[in-house]
Amino acid sequence: MPLDIIIGAQWGDEGKGRITDLLASQASIVARYSGGDNAGHTVTVKGKIFKLHLIPSGIIHQDALCLIGDGVVINPTTLLREMDELAQRGIDVSPNQLQISRGAHLITPAHIALDKAAEARRGHGAIGTTLRGIGPAYTDKAARSGLRAGLLADPEGLADALSQHVAAKNEILTRIYGAEPLDATAVAAQYAQFGQRLRPYLVDGHVVVHQALADGRAVLAEGAQGTFLDLNHGTYPFVTSSHPTAGGALVGLGVGPKQARRVIGVAKAFTSRVGGGPFPCELAGETAARLRGTGENPWDEYGTTTGRPRRVGWLDLVMLRHAVAINSLTELVLTKLDILSGLKELPLCVAYELDGKRIAHFPTDPNLLARCQPIYEKLPGWEYDITQARAMAELPPTARRYIDFVIEMLDIPISVVSVGPGREQTIFM
Ligand code: IMP
Repeated sequence: MPLDIIIGAQWGDEGKGRITDLLASQASIVARYSGGDNAGHTVTVKGKIFKLHLIPSGIIHQDALCLIGDGVVINPTTLLREMDELAQRGIDVSPNQLQISRGAHLITPAHIALDKAAEARRGHGAIGTTLRGIGPAYTDKAARSGLRAGLLADPEGLADALSQHVAAKNEILTRIYGAEPLDATAVAAQYAQFGQRLRPYLVDGHVVVHQALADGRAVLAEGAQGTFLDLNHGTYPFVTSSHPTAGGALVGLGVGPKQARRVIGVAKAFTSRVGGGPFPCELAGETAARLRGTGENPWDEYGTTTGRPRRVGWLDLVMLRHAVAINSLTELVLTKLDILSGLKELPLCVAYELDGKRIAHFPTDPNLLARCQPIYEKLPGWEYDITQARAMAELPPTARRYIDFVIEMLDIPISVVSVGPGREQTIFM
């Protein structure tokens, strides 16, 4: 009963879509378990670039059924746009390939309006959300007033629920934020159309997953965002409103922990983050610009969803140790090693100094974390271009040393290293 879970081990954008894409061919189901279209997964296949926000990246190869699980929040506009774009490129997005769990929640224009209004109100303390309505949709879910995807099959129920929902949100938008109200009739008409198109895709996601596991077919749980954006274990309040950790995968799909076989953490060979919040290893200046790239390539460090330049820094092993513990990671995938080529010296953060004391753990309290100074161990870099390497032995000794150092510090194996954006630019260890 193999359930393999892919987790972002940092602040998201680690290259999970790419690894999902590599593992999807062995899976019978690829399932998203949390988050929504705040995610952005770029997958490059045979020189073709696919950018996905909501549909699991497994859809590109069509080997597995793609499931949007109960833990996800769905903006139907994004979902249908993505489905149409994929269909235009010859990819089957029929219910044979894509299914939506009835228990997933719907994002509405009112959630998006509230996200924007709340961020504007926060001013300098803004979280830097993707403005996709994610927080407000999960707020409604927790308040037991959310709209579940199952409603799409019940036109009357959907119309009633939306009219109450928009009326309630309009009160908040107008009275608290001084924003424009939304037109409830227009929203209901739009969602009625969404319902017609999406109804055939609805399933009970956990039943689909349990059947696969009972048949001995592999299920791949595709992560979005990353461990340090987790509502419980991330750098609260600078987090997303879901659980992008291994626990979130179980709750989001409705399976228990004994089903999990591999819990694969994905980390970049350096660190990046978008949005606000403390970032101990953050770099500025020339080195940051170099790690970030110019933005000309889709794999440069600019948000897939928002286009924002990402903040970048050296690899933080204190964070990764925390991610190993929080998620019970069985292995790590290290991406974008090639980006470090040409740097003379590579500092890796092995501990923090907090108020004059050395600490080895990750404090999630943002006030403490903001006071942490990284303690680095410096390894020598490598000059060569490594994008052609396909085996450990083809990497320069200093690159191998970098990988070995990470393995030693985390005490888990590294199973895959990526040395470029292409599917083939992968070293299996
Ligand atoms: P939200 O998920 O849009 O509410 O945003 C909350 C925080 O999570 C912000 O700092 C976002 O930049 C960050 N975030 C959300 N999704 C992603 C992602 O897929 N990659 C990286 N950061 C993300």
